[in-house]
Amino acid sequence: MYTLKEVAQHNSRQSCWVIINSQVYDVTSFIDEHPGGPAAILQYAGKNATAVFNATHPEGTLEELPKKSNLGPVKFVPGDRQPNAKTTPSTSAKEPNATPHLHTIQNLTDFEAVAKDTLAPNAWAYYSSAADSLHSLHRNLADWSKLTLRPRVLRNVSRVSLRRNIMGHASSIPVFIAPTARAKLGHRDGELCLARAAARHNIVYAASSYSSISHAAIAEEIRRERVVNPGARVGQGALAFQLYLPHDKEAGRGVIGTARSLGYAALVVTVDTPVLGKREADERFKAELEVEIYGGQLEGEGEGGVRRLAEPGGDEPVLRGYHSSALEWDDIPWIREAWGPGPLIMKGIQTAEDALRAADAGVDAIYLSNHGGRQLDYAPSSISTLLEINIFCPEVLGKVEVYLDGGVRRGTDVIKALCLGATGVGLGRPFLYALSGYGTEGVDKALQILSDEIETSMRLMGVVDLSELDNSFVNTAELERDLVSARSLQASLRTHHKL
Ligand code: LAC
Repeated sequence: MYTLKEVAQHNSRQSCWVIINSQVYDVTSFIDEHPGGPAAILQYAGKNATAVFNATHPEGTLEELPKKSNLGPVKFVPGDRQPNAKTTPSTSAKEPNATPHLHTIQNLTDFEAVAKDTLAPNAWAYYSSAADSLHSLHRNLADWSKLTLRPRVLRNVSRVSLRRNIMGHASSIPVFIAPTARAKLGHRDGELCLARAAARHNIVYAASSYSSISHAAIAEEIRRERVVNPGARVGQGALAFQLYLPHDKEAGRGVIGTARSLGYAALVVTVDTPVLGKREADERFKAELEVEIYGGQLEGEGEGGVRRLAEPGGDEPVLRGYHSSALEWDDIPWIREAWGPGPLIMKGIQTAEDALRAADAGVDAIYLSNHGGRQLDYAPSSISTLLEINIFCPEVLGKVEVYLDGGVRRGTDVIKALCLGATGVGLGRPFLYALSGYGTEGVDKALQILSDEIETSMRLMGVVDLSELDNSFVNTAELERDLVSARSLQASLRTHHKL
């Protein structure tokens, strides 16, 4: 047993102890592996980190540390103040100016404005940041407005159906909750808000590998919501599991098996993340925190605070390589085999070439995405990739289902994607922003807004069933001007795909 005084002496990078739930942990060797960056741990070195730890990590996280890191319970001696859980200003939610009543929220962008106003700076930096110069992020939003709609009139549209089969689930709307990490940064119930709203609206929620609530608790919550709310709008919902392959293949098999046994109905394998993108707002925030704590860069870092983990090409860990950077096409068969029957979706396809390859790779669906603009800057938007597929290799649409996400903010965006052959459309940040301001009710309202917008737009388009939508309902001329030239794509297909 250690006293508070003893713990307080281990307050450096060389020896870093923290108190969590009245237990003392030696986390010195874990500092550099911490996904939230070393400063997030070091600011609590020698101190009680209980509140901030529990607010941002799923249950079971501590069990993943080597057993010897747990040094035992903290010993309180007379005169000790009970260690008070403290958060720094950078990790506490701001006092909202005046959060608008949920009833007055009109669209998904309204949620973003509220979140910006109320989220703690670290949470806003993590959620909103994107790669490099934000070109991919902005293009995701802008490309939707390059498509216009071609409505038909004088059709009886009094009754419409928004149903769609999404990742094997009979969903009430053609929308799903895209995987996003660390929902507890926005609300104490974190991912539970997303699970509950998915159940209430009978849609699919693809939970991130990096959920801040355990995957077991998310699965339990969606089951509970079905029982508590049998009479809700439709009250079912389903879970998909978003997978980042860890460095160790066997560990990957283990995660897939766990997802299956917990009742996750579809597996979404992310393939656009051999390394994490350079998200400057998030990295700037962490650097500022390091300056706040140390007055400069941390030991072991290079010029400008960029830590060189490896010489490019060496055997050392890969720079920004938090999970497997070695994943390749040949891995798909073992992932398919480990997952077994049931929807397997490949997320992160960005070109016609890879769509063609993926369609023959043994997956059930491809998921077009540039990761919310958080990975490669200057990557194509998913809607432009979908258009590219329509023009250069439409046969893909007959072989596999196609999902997409990125910059979707309106019911009309969803309709545009469906016109070009998408099966369903995912949204990530808008639901995080909704839960940040209003918890489960916020996500519920966001889904209600989307559903209303899709329903109203369908009537104004003159369609009563989503299956009627095809490319004759959308004018793609403006976006086509931005596409890769036919000459270069055909040359690439001939070279790489032997067509
Ligand atoms: C991200 C990863 C965790 O974009 O998906 O932050």
